[in-house]
Amino acid sequence: MDQFLGSGTTLIEAKLLGRNAIGVDINSEAVKLSNTNLNFTCQERSKIFTKQGNATNLSFIKDESIDLICTHPPYADIIRYSKDIQGDISHLKYDEFLKKLEQVAREAYRVLKKQRICTYMIGDIRKKGYVLPLGMNSMQKFVDAGFKLKEIIIKEQHNCRSSDYWEGRERKFLMLAHEYILVLEKLN
Ligand SMILES: C[S@@+](CC[C@H](N)C(=O)[O-])C[C@H]1O[C@@H](n2cnc3c(N)ncnc32)[C@H](O)[C@@H]1O
Repeated sequence: MDQFLGSGTTLIEAKLLGRNAIGVDINSEAVKLSNTNLNFTCQERSKIFTKQGNATNLSFIKDESIDLICTHPPYADIIRYSKDIQGDISHLKYDEFLKKLEQVAREAYRVLKKQRICTYMIGDIRKKGYVLPLGMNSMQKFVDAGFKLKEIIIKEQHNCRSSDYWEGRERKFLMLAHEYILVLEKLN
């Protein structure tokens, strides 16, 4: 399951691997785009579903029915994915965003089978020169929901939206050059 489907990368990989998958996004345009991107044939056979919905309420998915969660939420409001879609958490400021992630984490925990993995990619953000450690703070929300932290994987990420802007300009901080892939397990 990918409850922040976007353009469908997770589901494309699932399809190529012959794994059944469900993708959810609050934005119907993202669901449409994913359906277009998923419109290819491959040798592997699988069932792929996409659905418009809210990652904070996956009531259409049964408790303990998902084998793996692999997802990529927004990074608070640093990139807004829609103009005015209600429920789009990319509109939320840092603290409100973290509060919503509590619901996202609880739903992830509910739908995942026991002894299975929930993994997601996220990055820290910088506002007015200071770091907001979204990676670690979001991870704590998942731990608070009941997950056990299994791995913290650091992924180098040199090109982000602001890289070009800061190139050659004077600044009193380092450029963030990594993202996290957090791997959490639901024990029992
Ligand atoms: C970082 S992007 C995902 C990118 C994705 N990995 C891809 O392959 O394109 C985050 C996505 O979360 C979606 N989103 C924002 N709030 C949401 C919510 N409450 N429930 C589900 N999806 C949401 C946005 O519409 C956006 O498509």
